[in-house]
Amino acid sequence: MKKHAGEYKPTINIRQSPHLIGPALFFVAAWLSICAVGLSLWLRPSQLLENALTTNFTIVTVHMLTLGFLTMTMFGVLYQWLPVVFDVVSASPSFMIAHFLVYGVGLLLFLLGFSAHHAMLLPFGALLMALSIVIFTIFALNRIMSSTRPWDELTWTVCIALFSINLTWIFGLAMVLGLSGLTSYLHLLPEHLNAAWVGWIIMLVLAVQIKLLPMFSLAKMHTLRPWLPIVLALTGWILQFARRWIPTLALPITLIWTLTALVVLWQIYSLSKHHQSPKWDTVFIGVALGWLLWLMAAIELLYDPSLTIALLVLGATTFVFTYQSRIVPFLLSLVMVRQIRHKEFSAFFMAQRFNSHLLPIINASLAFVISALIVWGMMQQIREPIAIAGIVIVFWPLIHVALMGYQIIVQRGFFLSRHRA
Ligand code: HEM
Repeated sequence: MKKHAGEYKPTINIRQSPHLIGPALFFVAAWLSICAVGLSLWLRPSQLLENALTTNFTIVTVHMLTLGFLTMTMFGVLYQWLPVVFDVVSASPSFMIAHFLVYGVGLLLFLLGFSAHHAMLLPFGALLMALSIVIFTIFALNRIMSSTRPWDELTWTVCIALFSINLTWIFGLAMVLGLSGLTSYLHLLPEHLNAAWVGWIIMLVLAVQIKLLPMFSLAKMHTLRPWLPIVLALTGWILQFARRWIPTLALPITLIWTLTALVVLWQIYSLSKHHQSPKWDTVFIGVALGWLLWLMAAIELLYDPSLTIALLVLGATTFVFTYQSRIVPFLLSLVMVRQIRHKEFSAFFMAQRFNSHLLPIINASLAFVISALIVWGMMQQIREPIAIAGIVIVFWPLIHVALMGYQIIVQRGFFLSRHRA
């Protein structure tokens, strides 16, 4: 461990990490949301079949996943990640709790409004969520502006992601007001999907992996042109907005996004091949699978856009479980290191003990099985594989948390006995 401390120089300042309560609240709520998504697919698999894709039931399940699971996880990650990467003061526990409550209540009202066809709950919930997103954006931009870190592709990508989550709620709220009968309905779904998926989710994954992938491999990424997939994804994002007026852009956009995924797969291959860590990190299996699913999503754009959405969801879910298998043990190491008043830097090396070699393999296998079942069910228009995928999804967070907990409990004894000695 000491040997590595000398060699590996992380470019983040973990002393700026926030109180665990913020990330923990968002992560736990996200796990509960994905359990609810699994339950919904298990009990009503027909919602993913062709004639039900635009019903309120499907829209509720989609948002339990995108706003309940993915966006909650993103907020949890950003509360931890922004202060340490930009070396700025973290958010206070009361700020994070207030954000969580406003967003969570807004989401519940939004989902209730959709499922109960309630014309007032729906816009009220959407407005509360919008408010919480704006407050979070102000916090994040304020921290980025106060940082002395030079602006680079990472800073720009985070700013684009923050801009996009705001575009997402603006388009979403405009549709909500129309659906509630308060204004005339505007068909902004293509713009809403582009802002949400490419601008918010994909951009943030691209930004986060610039820092995380080199940490998993202890290799450097700057020679691998980290800006290239970002520029490609961004070009496709801009062209996709222009598609409303120029429909012939469909093919170039598909090609650009296909190329984006291929470039990232090449980066992942190069990083995992030139790793300097003592053991090859199994986390790369999940990262590669996530990008393969997104590669298929880009190609499907030409053939079946509903399958594109499903593949985007599956890829993003794969990333969350994969990255969490390393982020959560790190956060818990930090808490323990702070408790025993050790130097915070040692959390890096303690986390390596808490990291399970097996968990990323299990997560990637579950992601693969669920993806195969859902794609099969949607392509053949049959319910059974989708229902089985739903059952697996319900138990996924439980398996994930149980395995992380087991590894930490076993290794914690080892760490504390060494500390006492
Ligand atoms: C405050 C935030 C949001 C609001 C108010 C909102 C609102 C809406 C509304 C009203 C629709 C239905 C449009 C229609 O059928 O006419 C919709 C659809 C959709 N939204 Fe959102 N949304 C939000 C955030 C997100 C995010 C963050 C994502 C993805 C990351 C997302 C993904 C989708 C998808 C995939 C659909 C299509 C569902 C289907 O057709 O079955 N939304 N959204």
